[in-house]
Amino acid sequence: MNKFLESIKRYQKNKKALLATNFYNAETLHAILMAAKRENSEVILQTSPATLYYLGVDMAVAMVRAAANEHNVTAWLHLDHATDSALILQCIKAGYDSVMVDASELEFSENVQLTKEIVSAAHEKYIAVEAELGYIPKLGQSGVIESGLTTPKQAENFVSQTGIDLLAVAIGTAHGFYKEKPKLDFDRLKEIRNVTNIPLVLHGGSGLSHDEWQMAIQNGICKINFATEIKDTFMKTIRNSMMESEEIDLRKVFLPGIETTAKLVESKIQICSMN
Ligand code: 13P
Ligand code: ZN
Repeated sequence: MNKFLESIKRYQKNKKALLATNFYNAETLHAILMAAKRENSEVILQTSPATLYYLGVDMAVAMVRAAANEHNVTAWLHLDHATDSALILQCIKAGYDSVMVDASELEFSENVQLTKEIVSAAHEKYIAVEAELGYIPKLGQSGVIESGLTTPKQAENFVSQTGIDLLAVAIGTAHGFYKEKPKLDFDRLKEIRNVTNIPLVLHGGSGLSHDEWQMAIQNGICKINFATEIKDTFMKTIRNSMMESEEIDLRKVFLPGIETTAKLVESKIQICSMN
């Protein structure tokens, strides 16, 4: 079996979660790995398609493998929210541990069809596949709607028809910061948990409380995706420090951002590892 899947299934069994962090550059990558090292934890490093257009697929793979090795951390490389089959196939070929095919905005049958095609290509190379069912609003989209939440029945059918390894569920979270306090449907999550036994993924980790993370984990989530707060913390820190100094040595300028980001990620790893 894929080693990443073996690992995440251990988290699932122990009612814990593996933190899945998006990184954007060498600095955020360092920060995340520093946090994982301090917490003696594994971590998932995710690249969105936008990050790959910025860094390049081969560079992202090389950076992650080299940095994880230097920090002496077990890190799994995952492709986040990809809609383009060509990019997914490129990542499978380049050595990703896991890929997400996000066809959640298509009709159920079309989502099944595209997801199945990716599963078949990925499994040939022992790469795990995550897919999304339901509507988890993306940045710039309008908020959560009841009819967009994942239904247990559809989840059961979707998992058995596609053969995916991880399922991203819509239970009331959204990407980016929340404009109003989200209402998470933990009963729905529990029902989905009861009808599927594959690892379940919570997207939109930023802006949720400590208790919401814990409740999600206790009710069946074992991967939590976390991105916006990483960008926000890193940028706010360096913006502030740059206001106060004329430093042009960017190896010094970024250091405070790396440190505050590492502290933030550490705090999230701690929640994921609690029981
Ligand atoms: P946030 O940006 O809300 O933390 O969501 C992250 C995410 O779901 C990445 O796939
Ligand atoms: Zn997401």
